[in-house]
Amino acid sequence: MPKACEATDYTTLKPAEIALPDRLPLMGAVIGPRPVVVITTVGPDGIVNAGAYSNYMGVSSEPVLVCFALGRRNGEEKDTLRNIKANSEFVVNNASSVMAEGVHKTAVDFPPERSEIPFAGFHTIPSEIVHAQRIAESPIQLECRLHKLVELGEPEPTNTIVIGEVVRIHVRKDLITADGKVRGEGWDALGGIGDAYVTMGEVFELPYPEAPAE
Ligand SMILES: Cc1cc2nc3c(=O)[nH]c(=O)nc-3n(C[C@H](O)[C@H](O)[C@H](O)COP(=O)(O)O)c2cc1C
Repeated sequence: MPKACEATDYTTLKPAEIALPDRLPLMGAVIGPRPVVVITTVGPDGIVNAGAYSNYMGVSSEPVLVCFALGRRNGEEKDTLRNIKANSEFVVNNASSVMAEGVHKTAVDFPPERSEIPFAGFHTIPSEIVHAQRIAESPIQLECRLHKLVELGEPEPTNTIVIGEVVRIHVRKDLITADGKVRGEGWDALGGIGDAYVTMGEVFELPYPEAPAE
């Protein structure tokens, strides 16, 4: 593996001085790569809503929590947030690189009564616990119940962090080893960086560091 070398020359940016429309692509580029997932929820009349989200991460193991952050669209709450506020349930559908075009299409701005699923070319299957359906093309799906909403921004919220408790984890059979471990590298995770997508490169392990003797 190539060695890291010290840099001497940096350009320093002041976030508050950057134009609002430029901040999202900037942060997407400097916090990257991030996993890209599709969140499915149940909308009015049982419509399956789907949206791509990359401000997503794990939070804790006890309880098992994940979170993602939603912005507003023209000042309005996105369908995903409205549905979660209404019924407290959602599914995180992990995305493989082969799903990229469909994932991208779920970012389309459809009204609440139109599902993004057929437009994206995906299919749905029922969940075990929550009402929100899962995406059949997704290699791993997490059924979640709302744990907490954190609204950010003053005086009106501009962003919301949704924290969900994972109540079921569905893993495609070929991604489980004989001793029940999940092969994290086996599903070619789709990532996002800036306005672009990335796929997985080399996977390697390092031993956990031990404190050297004084
Ligand atoms: C790769 C990708 C990642 C995205 N990540 C986010 C995100 O983290 N937060 C967010 O609010 N919107 C994000 N979006 C935009 C949403 O997908 C888009 O606003 C979508 O229409 C929301 O769906 P909904 O209105 O059905 O909830 C992302 C879009 C793409 C293509």
